[in-house]
Amino acid sequence: MNIILLGPPGAGKGTQAARLVERHGMRQLSTGHMLRAAVAAQTPVGLEAKAIMDRGELVSDEIVSALIDAELAALAPGVGVIFDGYPRTAEQAVQLDAILAKHGRKLDRVIEIGVDEDELVHRIVGRYTCATCGEGYHDDFKQPKLLGTCDKCGGTTFKRRKDDNEETVRTRMAEYRAKTAPILPLYEARGIVSRVDGMAPIDAVSEAIEAILAKA
Ligand code: AP5
Repeated sequence: MNIILLGPPGAGKGTQAARLVERHGMRQLSTGHMLRAAVAAQTPVGLEAKAIMDRGELVSDEIVSALIDAELAALAPGVGVIFDGYPRTAEQAVQLDAILAKHGRKLDRVIEIGVDEDELVHRIVGRYTCATCGEGYHDDFKQPKLLGTCDKCGGTTFKRRKDDNEETVRTRMAEYRAKTAPILPLYEARGIVSRVDGMAPIDAVSEAIEAILAKA
């Protein structure tokens, strides 16, 4: 199964994608993760993307679609994919159709995670991850059991994303409203969109997604 998790910054796409990976052995393809890895490695893509990401704007369609194409080319055909943070523009949606066809795949479902924007700012500005294993935490919603020590790997160093400040988050949301939300009707016309309430607790959102996938 190939699915898109669609929603504004902080909606919980990454959180839910990680759970689907654990439960179903699917592969999470997050363009945000790929771009941050490119920035850290100072590749040509990373050097081009860095300032754009720091401002909260969108990296070019060609760059992100090429990243997705390369990942799918390297993936075994039977492994299901969760697209997390891609597509984000009408052009990327068109490019995704072509890429899926090229790799003999089809899009099964688009799950929109609906949320309240003011809550999102709080969610994003408070989040941080373990610098060793990447486990996600939040200042208010999910602290490690032993403060300062990662529950998963015991690491003691944590990091925050540079674009997780209020000003940049507002720009990222404006980009979502202007460029990403308008692609939903395209998928609605195909009858493949389902919605979940992203304001519900994380476990409840996971259950709602599982119920959708069970019927798909
Ligand atoms: P990207 O990394 O994709 O960031 P984003 O879309 O802004 O999404 P986030 O990772 O911020 O949020 P999320 O929905 O995954 O939420 P999470 O699960 O972490 O993109 C970053 C940048 O890269 C973009 O701005 C752009 O520049 C560039 N880029 C990436 N893809 C691109 C593309 N296709 N085209 C062009 N440019 C691209 O959850 C957030 C927090 O909330 C966590 O702390 C979590 O624990 C908590 N939480 C989650 N769910 C719940 C819940 N139900 N209740 C309470 N807390 C919750």
